[in-house]
Amino acid sequence: MERILVTGGCGFIGSNFIRFILAERDWEVVNLDALTYAGNAENLADIQEDRRYEFVHGRVEDQDLAADLCRRVEAVVHFAAETHVDRSILAAAPFVTSNVQGTQILLDAARKSGAVRRFVHVSTDEVYGSLEPEDPPFLESGPLLPNSPYAASKAASDLMVRAAWKTYGFPAIITRCSNNYGPYQFPEKLIPLMIISALADRPLPVYGDGRNVRDWIHVLDHCAGLLAVLERGRDGEVYNLGGECEQTNLAVVRMILRALDKPDSLIRFVEDRPGHDRRYAMDVSKVRRVTGWGPATPFEKGLGETVAWYASHRPWWERVMSGAYRRYFDSNYRARLRCSP
Ligand code: TYD
Repeated sequence: MERILVTGGCGFIGSNFIRFILAERDWEVVNLDALTYAGNAENLADIQEDRRYEFVHGRVEDQDLAADLCRRVEAVVHFAAETHVDRSILAAAPFVTSNVQGTQILLDAARKSGAVRRFVHVSTDEVYGSLEPEDPPFLESGPLLPNSPYAASKAASDLMVRAAWKTYGFPAIITRCSNNYGPYQFPEKLIPLMIISALADRPLPVYGDGRNVRDWIHVLDHCAGLLAVLERGRDGEVYNLGGECEQTNLAVVRMILRALDKPDSLIRFVEDRPGHDRRYAMDVSKVRRVTGWGPATPFEKGLGETVAWYASHRPWWERVMSGAYRRYFDSNYRARLRCSP
């Protein structure tokens, strides 16, 4: 491989992935990012000058641009997406545009380029829906039962990728990962939101009873899994990636408070998210068997380092929280706390 296209490379997982690839391989990376609210060029400030890195500002839905870029690369790793469930509940349309239409346009461009010989579509465990407490973890062969507009848009995009493989033999792979955490995560997601709120001694809004379960994976473990699939996965397959680390939200929040030496009294139970999935857990035996990859970072260690990262990168998240996001954050955060009993 010489040059790859990463879409959404200024986001949380994408920026970690680009930094990881430049360190692990001698490839060139082209990053196509629209710099919408969660994309932040500052996330890659440290590699801006790297001559193996090229940034292109634009959208995956821009057909001509997607076609131009795909002609220049051998592989595509497609992260670009709207990803926040709460936003999708407020307004679903941007999720269809970015996630479904964007994926289809990029797929067509990659297929017609004649240059792309591998396309990795980065998806999510949320397409499987929700597990009951005693259910076994999700398998790749399980049904797609998305519950939020976000999850439905990702499931739809997964099906477009599957169709490109089945119809045209286009060499695409789908990965589905569990909840990521780590540096550069946008502070609307559980872990960074709770860290930042705790640092400011503000209440920590926990939805419902706090007993929803997520399977947490360190973002760099996810990046290593994506590289393993990119290099050693089989065309047309789906691979689950996960942390094999199920935690209730309440347990995660308490660990964050302990790491920052803050009291549990900062926890505020607020009205539940509509359609809130109870539990996610991934079975990663397939990817382990095929590629040898498995999650490596113990949660306590990874979470501790993440808390330390946010504590020492205050200017990063203060800048992120000003501007457009600030208004969204304030109205939602306040609305949630108003609902609390
Ligand atoms: P989130 O980070 O939004 O990821 P996802 O919904 O994609 O899993 O939320 C993770 C869990 O944390 C989820 O069960 C919802 C819960 N949550 C809260 O309790 N309070 C919050 O303020 C947020 C953002 C999430």
